[in-house]
Formats: sequence, C-alpha cells, structure tokens
Amino acid sequence: MDPQVRATPFFGERFHRDPAAVYRRLRHDHGPVAPVQLEGGVTAWCVLGYREVHHVVGNPELFSRDPRRWNRWHRVPECWSLRPYVEPRPSALLSDGEDHRARGHVVREALATVDLVELAAAVERISDTLIDRFAARGSADLVVEYTHQVPLLAMAQVYGLPDDDAPMLTHDVALTGQEGEEAVRAHERTVARMLRLVRERREDPAEDLVSNLVQHPVGFADEEVATDLFLVLGRAHLTTSDWMGNALRLMLTEPRFALGLAGGRSSVAHALNEVLWEDTPTQNHVGRWATRDVQLGGQTVRRGDLLVLCLAAANADPQVRPRGHEGATGNHAHLAFSHGEHGCPHAAQEIARTITTTGIEVLLDRLPDTTLDVEPGDLTWRPSVLMRGLTSLPVTFSPH
Ligand code: HEM
Repeated sequence: MDPQVRATPFFGERFHRDPAAVYRRLRHDHGPVAPVQLEGGVTAWCVLGYREVHHVVGNPELFSRDPRRWNRWHRVPECWSLRPYVEPRPSALLSDGEDHRARGHVVREALATVDLVELAAAVERISDTLIDRFAARGSADLVVEYTHQVPLLAMAQVYGLPDDDAPMLTHDVALTGQEGEEAVRAHERTVARMLRLVRERREDPAEDLVSNLVQHPVGFADEEVATDLFLVLGRAHLTTSDWMGNALRLMLTEPRFALGLAGGRSSVAHALNEVLWEDTPTQNHVGRWATRDVQLGGQTVRRGDLLVLCLAAANADPQVRPRGHEGATGNHAHLAFSHGEHGCPHAAQEIARTITTTGIEVLLDRLPDTTLDVEPGDLTWRPSVLMRGLTSLPVTFSPH
C-alpha cells in the first residue's frame, strides 16, 4: 500500500461512536475500497462494496486467507490486539488451497457432527440456570448476565470442557475481541487452555468433537488443533452472543416486533435475520491478503496488502439496496457469514441459530413481560473494530 495515502482511522472513539457513518464517509470519499488505519498504525484496505466483498471471498487464488503473505509484518506492534486473529500459526483454518480443502474440511466436518437436538436441550438447561440467578430480582443486564454467557457455556459442553472452566474462558474469549494489549494476553491464556484440552484428549480420548480432531487420520499436530479450537471458540462465542444481544435489543426497542418481549416467538426468527443485515456481529473481518498486484474497486492493491472485509458496509451497500432498508431484510442474501470456501460453515451457522433461537425463546417463556430499563438511545456499543455488540442491556420484569 502507498504509505502516502491518507488512511482513515478505523479505531478509537470517533469510529466506535458511529461506525456506519465512518463507512458511509469512506464510500463517499474513496468508493467501494478505501485505505484505513487500524489500531497501532497498521494500514489496510477496507472492502466496503457488496460486489467487491463477493469478488474477494470468491477468488482465493487472488485473495489469500494465509497471513504469512502480509507485506507489513515488520510494521505490526508486538502487542497488537488483532494479532490473535492473524498471527501465522499451524492452523487448518488459516491455510489456503489444497491444504485448507483437506485439513480445514476436517474441522468443518467435525462441526457437522454436533447433535442440534442435544445442543438445544443443553442450551435450555443453561438458559434456565442463568435466569434462575436473576429472576427473583426483577431486573437484569441481559448482555452481561445472559447473552454473553449462553454461547460459551454451550460450546464448553460441545468441547467437553468442565463447567468450572467456563467463567474464566468467557472472560478471556470476550477480551480477545476488544482493543488493547490485554486482548493478546487473553488469547495466550485461551490457547494454553485449548492445548491442555487437546493433550488430555490425546491421552484419554472420548466420544466428542475434540477427540475426533485429535485422532483424525489427517494427523493434526497438537498446536494446530489448539489454534483451530481457539478460532472456532472465538468465532462461536463472540459472534453468537452479539447476534443474540442485538436481536434482543431490536425486539425490546422496535414496536413492530413486540410489546416488550411478550410479542412472541414468531418475531424471533425475523429479529435474528434483520440483525444479520443491520447490526451484523462480525462488522469487519480480518481478512485476506493479495497474492499479486491487482485492481479492486478503483484502487491498486499491492501484493501482500491486507484487506479487511467490511461486512456491515457491504450489507448496507446502496448498489444492492438502492431503495433503502425496506424489504431487504426478509431474505438471506446478507454477507454476515461471508461466503466462499472460508465462509462460516453451514454447520456452524446452524449451531449458532440453535443457540440464539433457544436462548431467546427460553427468555420469552420465563420472563414474558420484560421491558428495557433505559432509553434506547442510552445503550452503548463495545469498542471493537471487529464486532458489533452492546456493552449492556438493562431490563426489568415481574420478579418470580
Ligand atoms: C457456534 C457458532 C459458530 C461457529 C462454530 C463458527 C465457526 C466458523 C469457522 C470454523 C469459520 C472458518 C471457516 C474456514 O475458514 O474454513 C468461520 C468463519 C466465519 N464465521 Fe462463523 N461460526 C459461528 C458463528 C458465526 C456467526 C453467528 C457469525 C455472524 C453472524 C459468523 C460469521 C463468520 C464469518 C464472517 C466468518 C469468516 C468467513 C471468511 O473468512 O470469509 N460465524 N466460522
């Protein structure tokens, strides 16, 4: 990337106050591909156009998923908060081409073995236990006490982790999605826990997802499985909790969805789908690296440049939604799960949908008169360039 190019800051208070305004300004000033500066002075191309994101994720030979191709590694600060998601490590998911098709496929297949009926039953139990803790109080913070707990507790069961590990893991995995140096340390702790789990299963295999990976004939190294387990856990927990939290916000603030939460179950699927268009959990995804000099959206992208996929901006692209918002959110053509061979696996999407739907439905059943306890405009979003999620969702309901 040309260092003379004036890159727009893609971090900090101004960005976090209204990321959608930053995306609109970038599109206005630069078109569908814009130069941005991530935290720590790291420059990248932000891909804002729906067609351009599709083009990038659909052409892995031009836009690689392998971070070893980056031409700016020498400029990346040691304690860069996004390091956990790009650091070259042995990983089936962060590989490319034949390697990804063979080894990444094994991870995707392992996710497809998760029994969704058993998972829904586990999520019901988890949700009931969490609600029991605040039901008598008549008030709760649904983000802190609920949506940011349910997905990790559910994934801990899928991984066969003991319940005692869940609180620390919830804390650490949440930190890995935020700005600042603590994100790097939280990542190290999580990968260390995954490595311990892998070694436990190598010594004493069980009938579970982790043992399947460890014992697979493709022959994964322990570190490789640990990295991929971290990547899956990070994606599963952060995205799914924000998906659930953003949908609850919508249901509690938009009269067309419900009167409080009591408006009913039929709204849940609509709210979940609308969030994938309007407040998608993975607002930016890091990313892809150009394998050669290439023209994209009117910009010259150099070999080894980093591309950040701005899925939130692509979903709002006026080229594909010329008449504004109405009507578009009923279909599933959003890019919330990305697309192509590295896109979120179908099995993972089903796991996420099972967790979010069940978690919200249990809440509807248990606390049907829940209402928001603050003005909708007072709700605040976490300072993360990657994720779109609330810091808290205070509600009240009849105690029981
Ligand atoms: C239990 C829940 C989930 C699991 C286990 C999961 C797992 C994964 C995995 C394994 C990948 C990497 C695929 C590969 O490189 O072969 C991935 C990619 C991705 N996932 Fe998910 N995911 C979950 C939920 C979600 C949710 C709720 C969203 C957003 C609404 C999401 C968005 C994405 C995106 C944007 C990518 C990147 C695709 C790319 O690089 O083009 N995921 N996910």
